[in-house]
Amino acid sequence: MYRTHTCGELRLSDVNKQVTLAGWVQRSRKMGGMTFIDLRDRYGLTQLVFNEEVDAALCEQANHLGREFVIQVKGVVSERFSKNANLPTGDIEIIVNELQVLNAALTPPFTIEDNTDGGDDIRMKYRYLDLRRNTVRKNLELRHKMTIEVRKYLDEQGFIEVETPILVGSTPEGARDFVVPSRMNPGQFYALPQSPQTLKQLLMVSGFDRYFQIAKCFRDEDLRADRQPEFTQIDCEMSFVEQDDIINLFEGMAKYLFKTIRGVELTEPFLRMPWSEAMKYYGSDKPDLRFGMKFVELMDIMKGHGFSVFDNAAYIGGICAEGAAHYTRKQLDQLTEFVKRPQIGAKGMVYARVEADGHVKSSVDKFYTQEVLQQMKEAFGAKPGDLILILSGDDAMKTRKQLCELRLEMGNQLGLRDKNKFALLWVVDFPMFEWSEEEGRLMAMHHPFTHPKEEDIPLLDTDPAAVRADAYDMVCNGIEVGGGSIRIHDAKLQAKMFEILGFTPERAQEQFGFLMNAFKYGAPPHGGLAYGLDRWVSIFAGLDSIRDCIAFPKNNSGRDVMLDAPGTLDQKQLDELNLVIDLKQD
Ligand code: AMO
Repeated sequence: MYRTHTCGELRLSDVNKQVTLAGWVQRSRKMGGMTFIDLRDRYGLTQLVFNEEVDAALCEQANHLGREFVIQVKGVVSERFSKNANLPTGDIEIIVNELQVLNAALTPPFTIEDNTDGGDDIRMKYRYLDLRRNTVRKNLELRHKMTIEVRKYLDEQGFIEVETPILVGSTPEGARDFVVPSRMNPGQFYALPQSPQTLKQLLMVSGFDRYFQIAKCFRDEDLRADRQPEFTQIDCEMSFVEQDDIINLFEGMAKYLFKTIRGVELTEPFLRMPWSEAMKYYGSDKPDLRFGMKFVELMDIMKGHGFSVFDNAAYIGGICAEGAAHYTRKQLDQLTEFVKRPQIGAKGMVYARVEADGHVKSSVDKFYTQEVLQQMKEAFGAKPGDLILILSGDDAMKTRKQLCELRLEMGNQLGLRDKNKFALLWVVDFPMFEWSEEEGRLMAMHHPFTHPKEEDIPLLDTDPAAVRADAYDMVCNGIEVGGGSIRIHDAKLQAKMFEILGFTPERAQEQFGFLMNAFKYGAPPHGGLAYGLDRWVSIFAGLDSIRDCIAFPKNNSGRDVMLDAPGTLDQKQLDELNLVIDLKQD
C-alpha cells in the first residue's frame, strides 16, 4: 500500500497512529540535529520529522532529498511542539522511521509555491509543474465542482446530455474555422465546431426536447484575456419554449451556481436591458454594472459655442466620476494619453472639475460661459468634488465605445470593479444584423439561425438593418458569460435569412441544406443558450484571465508552448493527406 492517508488528512485525533504517506518534497529545513520536511500532495501538507539522534542514517538520507522528490514515508503521528494554525494539519507531525525515494527530481525551473518566482512563459512550458501549485490546482477543482453542479441542475430540469461530433463541416458564418484534412477524402476538410449550434437544433427536430452538453468549441480568432481558441460551453437547447422560458431557466441556473459555488444568494430577478440602451448609456453590449458613470449625452448643451471639436462632432458625451476632482493635471494627461492610444483611438479628452463652491472649472473654459458649464453639471447631477470627463467624435458608435473604455479605466482606477461584487444582467433585443465593413454586407449579429422578433418580420423586406432578434446575452461584471436565442424553425424563413445575408439559394442549400431540409420534417419551435464555462469559472475564482482555469491553455499566439504545437508535418504525413505546403512570402 503506497499510503494509508493523504497529506491533508491527519489531525490530533490520529496521534500515535502508525501511518504511511506519499507525496512530493515541498521544502526541507535543517535545525541542529533535526530535519523537517513538508510533504505535499493534492490534499495538503504534512510535516515530517527526522531526528539525527534517533536514526543518524535515516536523517542523512532525508538531508539528501531535493525539492519535488517523490517519496514514501512510514512513521508515527505526533503532536507538534510549535503548532501552525495556518495549516489544517498544523497540530501534528510525523516522526519518520522509514523513508523510500519513489522518484528523484531535477530542480524545478521555478518554485512550486503560491507566490512563485516563475514568469508566464516558463510556467506554461512546464505547465505540469505549474499545476502542482495550490493556486492553479484550486481553479481546476472549482471547475470540476461547477461542472458537477451544472450537470445536477440540468439533469433535475430534465435535460439529456448528448455528445455531438468534433469533426464537422465548415460553416462560413461567425469566426474562422480550424480545419482538419481528410485522408480518405482527398482535398477535403473537416472543420472543428465553433459550437454545436446546428447539431443541437437537429436534436430538437429529433424530439429530444431538452439537450445539454459540456462542449469543446474551437474558433480561430484573435485571443484576449477572456478568449481561447478552444474553450468550453455549457451548451443547451429546448423545444416548445419562448424567450422568457429560457431566460428564467438559465437565470435559475446562474443563481443556483452562485449559491452552491460561492455561497451568494441572488434573490432579485436580473435586470433586462435592451441592447440599444446598453450601447447608449455604456457604449457596450456587455456593460459592467458594478458601478455607475452612466453616459450623459451633451450635444444640446455643448454644441455651437465656438469650440470647433465639439461643434463638428456627431456625438459628445461624458461620464461623471464621483469624488475624483482631486485628479491632478498629470493624471488627467495620462487619461488623455490612454484614450488616444491606437487601440482606443480618441482624438482627445475634455475634463471639468466641480469645485467646493459648485463652480465648474474645465479644460475648455475659454469657449464656455459658467452658465453653460452649470447646465452641463446639472445634466450629470454632479456634485462638488466630482470630475467630468468628455469625449466627442464624428461617429457616435465609435465614440461611445471609446467612452466605454474610459469608463472602465476610471472604474479600475477608483477601485470600483471589486471581484467579490457581482452585477448580472440580461442584454436583450439585439439587432438581427450588423454591417460588416470587411465583407461589405450585413452579417448576423448572433448567428443566422436566430429568430427575428415577430413584430419586426415585415421589416426584413424593407429595412433589414432595423430588425431586432429574439436574442439575449447574460453579462456578469462586464463579461459576456452566455448568449442564446429563439431559433428559426421554418425552412422558408431560414432561406430568407440566408438570402439577406447574401447567400445564393444554391450556396445556402449546399452549406445549410441539412438544416433547412430537417425543418421540413416537423421541427418544433425551439431555442437555447450557451454559457462560457471558462468565463464562469474565472469569475468565480476571481481570475484576470480564463487561461488560469484551463489545464493546458494556449498562449496569446495560439501556441501550446509545452507541446510546441502547432507544428509542421513530415513529408509522409503530407503525402498521405495529399497536401502541398506553399507558404506565401509577404
Ligand atoms: P456564443 O458565440 O455567444 O454563442 O458563445 C456562447 C458563450 O461562449 C463563450 N465564448 C468563449 N469563451 C472563451 N473563449 C472564446 N473564444 C469564446 N467564445 C465564446 C462566451 C459566450 O457567451 N451557439 C451559440 C449559443 C446559442 O445560441 O445557443 C454560441 O456559440 O461566454
